[in-house]
Amino acid sequence: MKQAKLHIDRHFQVGEVDKRIFGSFIEHLGRAVYGGIYQPGSPLSDKEGMRKDVMELVRQLQVPVVRYPGGNFVSCFHWEDSVGPKELRPARPELAWFAIETNEFGLNEFADWAKKAETEIMMAVNLGTRGVDDAKNLLEYCNLPKGTYYSDLRRSHGVEQPHDIKLWCLGNEMDGPWEIGRKTPYEYGRLAAETGRVMKMMCPEIELVACGSSLWTMPTFGVWESDVLKECYDVVDYISMHQYYDNYDNDTAEFLANSTAMDRFISQVVSLCDAEQAKQRSSKKINLSFDEWNVWYHSKEADKKIERWTKAPRQLDNFEDALLVGEMLITMLRHADRVKIACLAQLVNVIAPIMTSDKGAWRQTIYYPYYYTSVYGRGRVLQTLVDSPLYTTKNNGDVPYLDAVMVECDDGSLSLFAVNKSLEDDITLACDLRQYEGFRVERHIVLDHDDMKAENTEEHPDTVAPKSNGASSMENGHLSAVLKKHSWNMIRMTIL
Ligand code: AHR
Repeated sequence: MKQAKLHIDRHFQVGEVDKRIFGSFIEHLGRAVYGGIYQPGSPLSDKEGMRKDVMELVRQLQVPVVRYPGGNFVSCFHWEDSVGPKELRPARPELAWFAIETNEFGLNEFADWAKKAETEIMMAVNLGTRGVDDAKNLLEYCNLPKGTYYSDLRRSHGVEQPHDIKLWCLGNEMDGPWEIGRKTPYEYGRLAAETGRVMKMMCPEIELVACGSSLWTMPTFGVWESDVLKECYDVVDYISMHQYYDNYDNDTAEFLANSTAMDRFISQVVSLCDAEQAKQRSSKKINLSFDEWNVWYHSKEADKKIERWTKAPRQLDNFEDALLVGEMLITMLRHADRVKIACLAQLVNVIAPIMTSDKGAWRQTIYYPYYYTSVYGRGRVLQTLVDSPLYTTKNNGDVPYLDAVMVECDDGSLSLFAVNKSLEDDITLACDLRQYEGFRVERHIVLDHDDMKAENTEEHPDTVAPKSNGASSMENGHLSAVLKKHSWNMIRMTIL
């Protein structure tokens, strides 16, 4: 048994949680849209073809914002193809993922879906093959009420009210060698500045996200952020971060240490933004939009075998790692002062918490930490000092066995999220909570499994599922809990 302590003071707060950090992502990729959120003719769909079972699971997650339509897909996307009468919409070869895009599901269908799913849209514009003019036209189509060419075009498509989209991404992964229309930081920074400037002329209330590096391991990471921000600092509001962690080496201890890498990545991007703020003598702060994050188990070899030019091919269906997803959520909460938006990539079928077949939908294991953190992790993050034994890793040095964060929720209760990364030992956790007089443990939810590779399948959807059986108690204001080996935990405390 290992021992760990948490130290908190209710007056020492990191900041308010921006609920948008519980966002997600739907790209025209694999079976995210077709066969995922949209399947006309299915008995499981409504009359517009939206999968009702999927919608219900999305609503339960309380996803506040969904990024759309890509991803790599957006860099070759002509949004005009995806609106108007369906029979007139062209099918196109989709060059990011080598599939056929029929455009049968497009912008207005997504807006309908988002309304039903009770979420907001985070829209990406194509800065790969297109530029200022098309971004301006798309914004006009989406947000102006009427009386102009594109707003009236929307109305002629049967959509009277504007979509009123507040959050816009200026392209996607523009440094990536795989990205259509890849750019140098100077080329991209200038294009982002001019596109953003024109978009804000039309709708000053919108918020803009500039592309940061595609991954921390990009050779240009750091230089890219500085050079891009140098050109567009005064126009944009956020810089994006993307990161997927994999376990190709099948070294679970090393894999679970990636929250340390993520923590360092966030601190570095904050420093890069603040360094540019200093150089620009600006009073404005740039915050972070971690708009693609997840584990990525899919083998790149398997991807190469996918047949080209099929409609909605099976791609990137994932295995799980709920523990690391839980750790990544904890890490972002610990940076709540600067991480204001985050999108779990992606929401349905593509390395996703929700999986579907023609017969139904089920929760992949990563659904659970996402669900509990989204529903019970809103409020103020308390500075949570973790005093934990360490283990040594190849890539991240000495890392704590315990990741944890405490949130003082809007209803006055406390949520503690904690992951024990030890593959051998339980951890006994202690925390002095005498400042929260009268509080008791209301429940201790645990997600664990003996098999680190277990996954939830259509046939066995509940192989990995949470249980309300954690051992924790509060005596005279002192919390003590047992965190089982390799487990994710949520302990809720309130006045009972
Ligand atoms: O989420 C899958 C892909 O990963 C996205 O399209 C791209 O932006 C990233 O490389």
